[in-house]
Amino acid sequence: MSVAKEVKRVTTRTLQEMKQKGERIAMLTAYDFSLARLVDTAGIDVILVGDSASNVMAGHETTLPITLDQMIYHASSVVRGCGRALVVVDLPFGTYQGNSKGALNSAIRIMKESGAHAVKLEGGAEVLDSVERILTAGIPVMGHLGLTPQSIYKFGTYVVRAKEQEEAERLRRDAKLLEEAGCFALVLEKIPAALAAEVARSVRIPVIGIGAGGGVDGQVLVLHDMLGINKEFNPRFLRRYADLHGVITEAVSGYVRDVRSRDFPNAEEQY
Ligand code: KIV
Repeated sequence: MSVAKEVKRVTTRTLQEMKQKGERIAMLTAYDFSLARLVDTAGIDVILVGDSASNVMAGHETTLPITLDQMIYHASSVVRGCGRALVVVDLPFGTYQGNSKGALNSAIRIMKESGAHAVKLEGGAEVLDSVERILTAGIPVMGHLGLTPQSIYKFGTYVVRAKEQEEAERLRRDAKLLEEAGCFALVLEKIPAALAAEVARSVRIPVIGIGAGGGVDGQVLVLHDMLGINKEFNPRFLRRYADLHGVITEAVSGYVRDVRSRDFPNAEEQY
């Protein structure tokens, strides 16, 4: 008889119920097996295999260069490390815009080849065809509005979005469109807290914020940022829960010192 404790998987339905009960949803990014396993066992509800992998894993300046094959590689590593969390994968730039058939093929490849549970894509009315077509295959879709980093060359800056009336109004409309199309949740990135709270109240699906204040249904951060691995990125919305930059630098310089001084390995650390 197995003594392993059954872990109940978080599903899109769980998230819907959490919103109804007023329970906050905790989401973080992960891109590899080892950290996904740590994040999952620590109790996270949703793991996002974000295209921020392009920045934090590959060192690119933007999220644009990462490919579908690379996202599938990261996603399948995360899925292997994950027993409880819902795993959502970003559709990378160029794999869903302006071509709903292509979007469906990209989403199917992610689901089939990585074993993930849902996809996320950026934009509102302009990607609605793609959202609807992906949903026809029974693939859950998470929307993403506000600051959408794949459009950085259109915005020209990473400043707060939707501060002006016209853009705020468009965001309200897009949130409704995505809900009506059948998205199971929405990410709102870097918009005024009051607008984000209003959108969260106006839709039935969970709204997860990043830099969108506390009035939404859940929060997401990039794992490497909240663990303090990246020292250079310091937006106001970021809370650091560790200083891994310091911890790792100290550990590695200690190792270098011990190897050079012949302190490592000692008599007990050899055969
Ligand atoms: O790619 C990513 O990490 C994201 C989050 C910032 C929401 O989309």
